[in-house]
Amino acid sequence: MNDAAAAVRLGPVICVVGARPNFMKMAPILRAMKSHVPPIPVLLVHTGQHYDKDMSDRLFEELDLPRPDINLEVGSATHAVQTAEVMRRFEPVLDGHNPSCVLVVGDVNSTLACTLVAVKKGIPVAHVEAGLRSYDRSMPEEINRILTDQIADRLYTTERSALGNLGLEGIPAERVWFVGNVMIDSLLASKPRARSARDTLVGCQADASVLEHASGYGVVTLHRPSNVDQPDTLREMLEILGEVAAKVPLVFALHPRTRNNIQRFNLLGLVDPAKMVLLPPQGYLEMLGLMAGASLVLTDSGGLQEETTALGVPCLTLRENTERPITVEQGTNILVGRNRDAIIHQVDEILAGRGKHGRVPELWDGHAAERIAADLWQWLKPPSQLPTPQLAH
Ligand code: UD1
Repeated sequence: MNDAAAAVRLGPVICVVGARPNFMKMAPILRAMKSHVPPIPVLLVHTGQHYDKDMSDRLFEELDLPRPDINLEVGSATHAVQTAEVMRRFEPVLDGHNPSCVLVVGDVNSTLACTLVAVKKGIPVAHVEAGLRSYDRSMPEEINRILTDQIADRLYTTERSALGNLGLEGIPAERVWFVGNVMIDSLLASKPRARSARDTLVGCQADASVLEHASGYGVVTLHRPSNVDQPDTLREMLEILGEVAAKVPLVFALHPRTRNNIQRFNLLGLVDPAKMVLLPPQGYLEMLGLMAGASLVLTDSGGLQEETTALGVPCLTLRENTERPITVEQGTNILVGRNRDAIIHQVDEILAGRGKHGRVPELWDGHAAERIAADLWQWLKPPSQLPTPQLAH
């Protein structure tokens, strides 16, 4: 049987996306599966964990992601309800489509929920961005990472340290494949189309003159429950950001969780609009342009730590730990937590031209998704027919 005939016999790879950081990871994988010779059949399932236009639809358009074949429309809820709803609604999808495998990315609730359903039905699972560990089990994402990696069959990693983490959890090296970083595939493919910071601010009806009167600007994102869910912590964060904004204007793209909490805790008064521009969640091309043009980024996002390393832009991570240590060891990232003195010191260093430059890590080269598609094909393709045995006379 030749490869084209084998592809016809292959059930679809069910690719799962749920929340914002999944979309930029899945886009290059879908492209690579489509352009693989022979093409690998795909069914795209959106769990609907993120559902706002800003958090979902707009990213689909900008990343050239095809419309999902199926949307489970689970929406927001507690972790238990959200995870359970994804599981309940995903099971019939598997029953109806005879998949060859389920492919999940990242560490969101949808990643774990779909993995659990597939594995219990005996359907193989591939996990992209496996083996990252913050060693902080109070992060919901850490629980999702550990459990997904334990039960998935094929683990694709973005950095070499992931293999050591998986080994410590008893996962054999034969299940692990170092392929590089699909996030960076998206970044390199989209960079020429990135929107300028000025256009983005004007497009949001924000005051772009903030950018014109300064020699640079910083970009802020913040959404981790540990940073934004308690009034005292969020207040402390906004006060520190206020001090930074007195040195360099900040553009703050607000996650809905953070926006809601700033309003609920009555903290809007801490934001000086002449120095800190608040924007709604941004599209991918807008965020890319904002970061690429920035003097620095302050964030608690996992993805931004990687993207700033790839762009060579200094990044201060407002967390005590990172599951992406290569961005600190080789890239532009520095962990500063909520330590006011450390943050102000690092901001001063960056503004004085002494920020980290770093280098781009191994295999963050724009071709990770192609390596995944090539490996998936070798793994999944139906075995060629054995020669008919000769009958003895
Ligand atoms: C989720 C992921 C996190 C990822 C983040 C990126 C988990 C456990 N967390 O966190 O890993 O970094 O997405 O954005 O899966 N909301 C909206 N509109 C939306 C989506 C959410 O308004 O489209 C609001 C809802 O009020 C919701 C809150 O944001 O309660 C949080 O959403 P949720 O999906 O629970 O988690 P995230 O904080 O977004």
